[in-house]
Amino acid sequence: MAGAWRGSLRARLMVGVVLLAAGGMVAVNAVSLIGLRLNLVDVADATLTRARDTVQDRVRHQTAPFDEADLNTLIPDGVYIALVDDRGRVVARTPGRDLDGQPRSRPDLPTPVPDGFAAHTRTVSARGAPVPRYRALSFPIDRPATVRRAPGTAPQPFSRVVVAKSLQPAEDVVYWLIGADAAATLGALGGIVLLSRGVLRVGLRPLRDMAATATAIADGDVDQRIEVARPCSEVGEVGTALNRAFDERQRSEEQLRQFVANASHELRTPLTTIRGWAQLHLHGLAQDPELIERAMQRIEGEAARMHATVEELLLLARLDLGRPLAGEPVDLGTITDEAVTDARVRDPGTPITAEVQGEVFARGDEDRLRQVLQNLLSNALRHTPPGTPVSVAARPLPGGTVELTVTDRGPGMAPDIAHRIFERFYRGDESRAPAAGGAGLGLSIVQSIAEAHNGTVTVRTAPGEGSTFTVTLPAAR
Ligand SMILES: Nc1ncnc2c1ncn2[C@@H]1O[C@H](COP(=O)(O)OP(=O)(O)OP(=O)(O)O)[C@@H](O)[C@H]1O
Ligand SMILES: [Mg+2]
Repeated sequence: MAGAWRGSLRARLMVGVVLLAAGGMVAVNAVSLIGLRLNLVDVADATLTRARDTVQDRVRHQTAPFDEADLNTLIPDGVYIALVDDRGRVVARTPGRDLDGQPRSRPDLPTPVPDGFAAHTRTVSARGAPVPRYRALSFPIDRPATVRRAPGTAPQPFSRVVVAKSLQPAEDVVYWLIGADAAATLGALGGIVLLSRGVLRVGLRPLRDMAATATAIADGDVDQRIEVARPCSEVGEVGTALNRAFDERQRSEEQLRQFVANASHELRTPLTTIRGWAQLHLHGLAQDPELIERAMQRIEGEAARMHATVEELLLLARLDLGRPLAGEPVDLGTITDEAVTDARVRDPGTPITAEVQGEVFARGDEDRLRQVLQNLLSNALRHTPPGTPVSVAARPLPGGTVELTVTDRGPGMAPDIAHRIFERFYRGDESRAPAAGGAGLGLSIVQSIAEAHNGTVTVRTAPGEGSTFTVTLPAAR
């Protein structure tokens, strides 16, 4: 169960959502914290620039030496100040304790303070602290000035001033925000996990329903179908496609069942006849040599009919497999002439004409194409009254195809019959040709062969107007 959950689409989507959300939040937080810190450094720098202006102003108006103890009041509290003489020595600095007597940190200045030190604001570490905690700015004063370290001592001259502003408050804000952001991010991620679980469970429910339906169909409930609520969504599209696949499967299963039923029915009639004659003989009822002779003839005739039907079924099954047929150039002119000559011999009373326009070569399987012609010709002879004229034509068409037509001036077919004649085992008006006895497979074989050649077969017919069957095939040259 745990393994199934781990590998499930829901788990993977959830992990993906959470990772993406976490990455996004961390990136946004990092950018805003870095921005905030830079901004706080800018604010400190601005304070130092203002402090420099204040110091210069005070120095310009100084009449008596400064007192070190008063340095606290020289510039805004919170800015550290160090007065440096010509040799870089710090002669006075902000006292180590603030006005409330609390100890105060201070920047770690180099001794002696070099000339160009912090000419532009820069970051220095705090005394005793490893990380930089101060922004510092040093500048020469506009006129010489002095400072007294304690009342009564000799004033000492200084020529440069270093002002520094602690970054501690800014960093405290940043650290506090890091903590707050981390807590908020974790909380938000927890919320996303809970929410996405729910959303994904609802969103993926149709997929689970599909699996249940497919399982039910596999278990035999073949009429079940997936309910597609929103056909335009991706899941809806899958559902629609699956339903189509189920429909198609059911249709082809029904077709197969029908086919087997028809085939069995077709074979049962000759088998019954054969059995009847055989039993007659076995029970000694047929003593008359003439009757025995007839029995043998009927048995042979029915066996031949069965054989023909079985051969046709096998051919259809082979064509259904979609195996490629031989692809040699076939001279349709020659096979047309031969088929017509054969038909004239078989049916001397029927006027049959052949018309071949130039060289007509199709690419395909010669035996199968002969069979096409034979089936169409035998239909034209069998399903029309004796003596009905029949014509066969082969001609090349523009666009790399060739055409074979078999036309008769027989009774033709009504549209509802013409509509179905290519169906397997379909026989039209049987009363019209009672002795014909075909299985109704001839035209479905013609169609399968034409399609196996990437060709088509069509019929043009109407009652009283005869029929024209047209087979179009790819030309060989
Ligand atoms: N030229 C035609 N004129 C009138 N009806 C035709 C013609 N060709 C075919 N048909 C009708 O179409 C039906 C189907 O033809 P198809 O060739 O498939 O089967 P069949 O000729 O009855 O039997 P089989 O060809 O298997 O021996 C025929 O039974 C017949 O009713
Ligand atoms: Mg036929």
